[in-house]
Amino acid sequence: MPPPPAGPAAVLLAAVAVAVAALLATTAAGEEVVTCSGVVPMSDRVDRISIADFGGVGDGRTLNTKAFREAVYRIQHLARPGGTLLHVPPGVYLTESFNLTSHMTLYLASGAVIKATQDTSNWPLIAPLPSYGRGRERPGGRYVSFIHGDGLQDVIITGENGTIDGQGDVWWNMWRQRTLSFTRPNLVELVNSRDIIISNVVFQNSPFWNIHPVYCSNVVVRNVTILAPVDSPNTDGIDPDSSSNVCIEDSYISVGDDVVAVKSGWDEYGIAYGRPSSNITIRRVTGSSPFAGIAIGSEMSGGIENVLVENVNLYKVGIGIHVKTNSGRGAFIRNITVSDVYVEDARKGIKISGDVGDHPDDGYNPNALPVVTGILIKDMRGTNVQQAGLIRGIKNSPFTGVCLSNVNLHGKPGPREDPWSCSDVSGAAFKVSPSPCSELTSVSDRDSCANYS
Ligand SMILES: *[C@@H]1O[C@H](CO)[C@@H](O)[C@H](O)[C@H]1NC(C)=O
Ligand SMILES: *[C@@H]1O[C@H](CO)[C@@H](O)[C@H](O)[C@H]1NC(C)=O
Ligand SMILES: *[C@@H]1O[C@H](CO)[C@@H](O)[C@H](O)[C@H]1NC(C)=O
Ligand SMILES: *[C@@H]1O[C@H](CO)[C@@H](O)[C@H](O)[C@H]1NC(C)=O
Ligand SMILES: *[C@@H]1O[C@H](CO)[C@@H](O)[C@H](O)[C@H]1NC(C)=O
Repeated sequence: MPPPPAGPAAVLLAAVAVAVAALLATTAAGEEVVTCSGVVPMSDRVDRISIADFGGVGDGRTLNTKAFREAVYRIQHLARPGGTLLHVPPGVYLTESFNLTSHMTLYLASGAVIKATQDTSNWPLIAPLPSYGRGRERPGGRYVSFIHGDGLQDVIITGENGTIDGQGDVWWNMWRQRTLSFTRPNLVELVNSRDIIISNVVFQNSPFWNIHPVYCSNVVVRNVTILAPVDSPNTDGIDPDSSSNVCIEDSYISVGDDVVAVKSGWDEYGIAYGRPSSNITIRRVTGSSPFAGIAIGSEMSGGIENVLVENVNLYKVGIGIHVKTNSGRGAFIRNITVSDVYVEDARKGIKISGDVGDHPDDGYNPNALPVVTGILIKDMRGTNVQQAGLIRGIKNSPFTGVCLSNVNLHGKPGPREDPWSCSDVSGAAFKVSPSPCSELTSVSDRDSCANYS
């Protein structure tokens, strides 16, 4: 038989095949893996300089602030075509905070450590983010992140598994002793920037959140390790905040607060700023945290939508998947898809709740109620999970379209806890074990689950 003519259906199929191929990369073993990392193409830089050219000394004692700042100044002002790679050779480079510039690669060789000074007395302050109105933990300004960038494009932080070490214990102790005047520094923060790649680097002991892209687009964080002690306060792993097209993949994150938390500003400030987080992919992440594995919120006042979480493994977590918001936050959380999650040793597998987190000040509007709709959690499995799920919507803004499909979360329930506890929520459940709360309508096929609201 002759092949059928290439009708519209065949053309469409071919187009789909090309689109799918574009999302697949090939591993060394030859199998194909889905990836979103193509949102930022890797730049190969011809112009290369070394921190040693600027007097950098990796003896662990010499302060290299001047070397880093001068190297970045050189990259910014010579503006070589294709940008410049700043090489950090093996050694321990102590430094104060420094800024990055556009079209640069910060490259940490194997055995290179960039270490933050523990002298906090000269740490520079910057203005609060407009979507927060103040520092996250103290009113007023905040300490600049250890490595900082504002208004940049085409920035890469990569290498051969070198380390960026925040030496955060002095900051954690100030927090514990309540002696902080301002909000602690993030380890890496990029503000209002685009086309960012962070890969093949270890981040450890951040004073506060580890990696914080805020008002950014096209950000890839891939193949990173993030480590902080289980009792280190607020050491979130990665916090995409009012940012779009963010791709987080293939990473190991064991920290003292949420592994990944998608955010978008705080109460009246976030509502006024109005910049959502959208198109966020979190894939093939393994993590551990006394708080959440994957969190959405609680700061979400610019709105959060189109989040895809898949192939995530969580060990020893407080809550596996935590969607959190509060009255006063306003905005929305919608179109969140979570699939292929394994949780082991958790207080709760799933929590979706409308009463979490504090307010920046008394100026928030208690009637600004967030709208939470369209949360699909499928193919999730848990062992040694104390409570399968707690879903607590907001009375005057009940959560809708919450859909659980093929969710099995087992373990010893606490003394007085039902496996599922729900209020002010509607949605559907398909193949959920232990059997879910009656607020979620049982459906008999998987596809009707997602459309239920
Ligand atoms: C670093 O960037 C911040 C924010 O843009 C700015 O306030 C500060 O002056 C810069 N610091 C240096 C050393 O250039
Ligand atoms: C991940 O990073 C390590 C070093 O940190 C490197 O050896 C490995 O090739 C990287 N993998 C990918 C896929 O980039
Ligand atoms: C990178 O360093 C981390 C932390 O030391 C380690 O756990 C990881 O195995 C290293 N990765 C590679 C590819 O060497
Ligand atoms: C999110 O992704 C969709 C589909 O790929 C695209 O149309 C949209 O522009 C993206 N949104 C943003 C804010 O980039
Ligand atoms: C919902 O989010 C997914 C990503 O999980 C995206 O592919 C899809 O386009 C979004 N749907 C809408 C209606 O924006």
